[in-house]
Amino acid sequence: MSSEASASGSDSEYNKRAEPLPAEQMAMERALDLARRGWGRVAPNPLVGAVVLAGDAVVAAGYHAEFGGPHAEVVALRAAGERARGATLVVNLEPCAHHGKTPPCTEAIIAAGVTRVVAAISDPDPDARGGAAALRAHGVTVSLGLLREAAAALNAPFLFAREQAERPFVALKLATSIDGRIADAAGSSQWVSGEAARDYVHWLRAGFDAIAVGGTTALHDNPQLTVRGPITPRRPPVRVVFDRRAMLNLGVQLVSTAREVPTWVMSSLDAPPSSVTQLERSGVRVFRPTTLRDGLRMVREAGIQSLLCEGGGALGARLLTPSPPRRAGRRWSGGLWALIHYWYWTGDYVYRNRQRRRARRQGDAGDGKRHAGSHTHDPGSVQGPQAG
Ligand SMILES: NC(=O)c1ccc[n+]([C@@H]2O[C@H](COP(=O)([O-])OP(=O)(O)OC[C@H]3O[C@@H](n4cnc5c(N)ncnc54)[C@H](OP(=O)(O)O)[C@@H]3O)[C@@H](O)[C@H]2O)c1
Repeated sequence: MSSEASASGSDSEYNKRAEPLPAEQMAMERALDLARRGWGRVAPNPLVGAVVLAGDAVVAAGYHAEFGGPHAEVVALRAAGERARGATLVVNLEPCAHHGKTPPCTEAIIAAGVTRVVAAISDPDPDARGGAAALRAHGVTVSLGLLREAAAALNAPFLFAREQAERPFVALKLATSIDGRIADAAGSSQWVSGEAARDYVHWLRAGFDAIAVGGTTALHDNPQLTVRGPITPRRPPVRVVFDRRAMLNLGVQLVSTAREVPTWVMSSLDAPPSSVTQLERSGVRVFRPTTLRDGLRMVREAGIQSLLCEGGGALGARLLTPSPPRRAGRRWSGGLWALIHYWYWTGDYVYRNRQRRRARRQGDAGDGKRHAGSHTHDPGSVQGPQAG
């Protein structure tokens, strides 16, 4: 599938080295950390971080902080100044070679006198790709493939959108109890998760174009599905309800606030016309797909590249139902893909929180230092170039 394909083949070149250079590996880890700070602010652009290395020493770093703003490479190179001459630039995505909202990064790299670029994955974007070739043509050494799996997972929605246009990248998020349930027996529990998990969900929502739930969840739990965390997304995610029978009514928050936050209902041709009309009068945009796949296609056509499904069980199970293989020998389903990436993100979050707690304990113990790379998913007020 998309990012896996993009992360293989020519991108595995770096692995031909017996051992990655430790300084480059650490710089790439840092670049990935920095890239994540653009979450919710740069889409549909990719998340990108960059580090400038002179020998083994980090001299500057930066990330793409805002859609339309300078790219990570340019931020890092500006921070490095003359120290970029003869240096290595480590970046999680192949530098772009085109004039978009900003000039090509390849030009900035060549002008700065960088002699080596280490990138995790190639850029599949038809407009931006070709940076590695452009750099090599100017005598810059380019290595691709370092930490490519982590880099592909970080930008999975971006890579997926460039691979196919039939549906959005779909991630499924479910909170489960320790015995694997998503609600109590009566189905009356609005939350089975705690405060930390709900904070994480607000962070997660900020990076998606749309948030989806099933009609039963919308009725029972009456969620707002808005982003109320530390990140204000550049564009508030559209709320999508899969509600074949158009059961939603004005008593549901998603409908009563539909004029303030875009709300779409994926209904069906069988839904009562009066219910559809009532929803439309409330400001809801109603689609009438014939199948779930058709609904996802409509969502993509309407401009949604990434969709976070927050349950419930029926809709989640339907999304996880395997679809026919896309290619002989590769039995992928969209649902499986979504689940893998959900676990990637969750695992990452748990890992970072552990690091943060460890750093706090160390701080409490009196050494007063912050653990390297110990920031959580919340980037706080840090913006733009990070001096190395
Ligand atoms: N722990 C969690 O993370 C979590 C998250 C959300 C919800 N929940 C809990 O889960 C429960 C609700 O889950 P649920 O399984 O009963 O229902 P659900 O998944 O929320 O909703 C099912 C809805 O999806 C619609 N649907 C199913 N397949 C569809 C398709 N192919 N196209 C369009 N619509 C489709 C159904 O329409 P039809 O009726 O026409 O089939 C129905 O309206 C609640 O108790 C809630 O609290 C837990």
